[in-house]
Amino acid sequence: MDETKYKSTVTEAFNEAAATYDQMGVEFFTPMGRRLVERIAPRPGERVLDVGCGRGAVLFEAADRVGPSGHVLGIDIAPAMVEAARERAAALGTRHVEVRVMDGEHPDLPPASFDAVTGSYSVIFLPDAPKALGRYAALLRPAGRIAFTSPVFTDDTFPFLPPIFTELIPERLLRNLPAEWQPEALKRRFNSWLGDGDELTGTMLRAGFEDVEITDEHVQLVAADGTTWVDWSHTQGMRLLWRHLPAYESAQLRKRLITELDRLRGDGPLRLPTPVRFVLASVGG
Ligand SMILES: C[S@@+](CC[C@H](N)C(=O)[O-])C[C@H]1O[C@@H](n2cnc3c(N)ncnc32)[C@H](O)[C@@H]1O
Repeated sequence: MDETKYKSTVTEAFNEAAATYDQMGVEFFTPMGRRLVERIAPRPGERVLDVGCGRGAVLFEAADRVGPSGHVLGIDIAPAMVEAARERAAALGTRHVEVRVMDGEHPDLPPASFDAVTGSYSVIFLPDAPKALGRYAALLRPAGRIAFTSPVFTDDTFPFLPPIFTELIPERLLRNLPAEWQPEALKRRFNSWLGDGDELTGTMLRAGFEDVEITDEHVQLVAADGTTWVDWSHTQGMRLLWRHLPAYESAQLRKRLITELDRLRGDGPLRLPTPVRFVLASVGG
């Protein structure tokens, strides 16, 4: 993989998405971030690093927990995400939140300077996540904790989406994705450290963590209807697929998804239980 090219594609996609990311009336990233913070439970006065902070789904929940005597630093590779989070901190008057543009794979931060590291749906974007995890362990103070989320990958699901999309998104369309986002490439990349619980525990132990806890939970994705979901899908990882589809294919897929998702929701809003993996661990005391 050409890492520079890969990271500039990711940066571009999230820069483009930042204005609407998690702002489309679809509940998913915010409840997932909240759940992650509940699990790691930052304490008043603690210092938290949030990797790939986006607009702050984890950042602001963590800031509430640590309070003004604590500090939360969010880093993200996409400047537009960082700007959006900075604006939100200013609007809320949250002075103990700081955000910086930084590659989360190589955090340029002092060793042993955090009590907790978090990353919701962000660590998965790092080309060499196992190495980055080792760097996070070094950033933690004794007994410091890490918590991150990832999608749950199985052999027959469209990466990043609930299983229903295997039927709704024809396999041949995925061939339009850039090579490093093709399902096989994603599986190779993720399954090497994330796919299987034992493998993941091993990765965490090798990175310097202990007390590894892996839990798969369903987070309820809620959207008013199929159209809302499809519009939302342009503002997150699936943007990478949309932007590579020819116009005709894109219009056809949009129509198909809206019809089927609306059929699925019946009279109420669309509710898609989405499997999410929560990984928690700590460093020695
Ligand atoms: C799916 S979003 C999650 C954002 C946020 N954590 C949330 O839960 O809403 C993934 C985020 O990871 C960021 N990201 C991807 N690669 C990164 C890297 N190498 N370093 C830092 N951030 C990165 C993206 O810019 C994006 O904001």
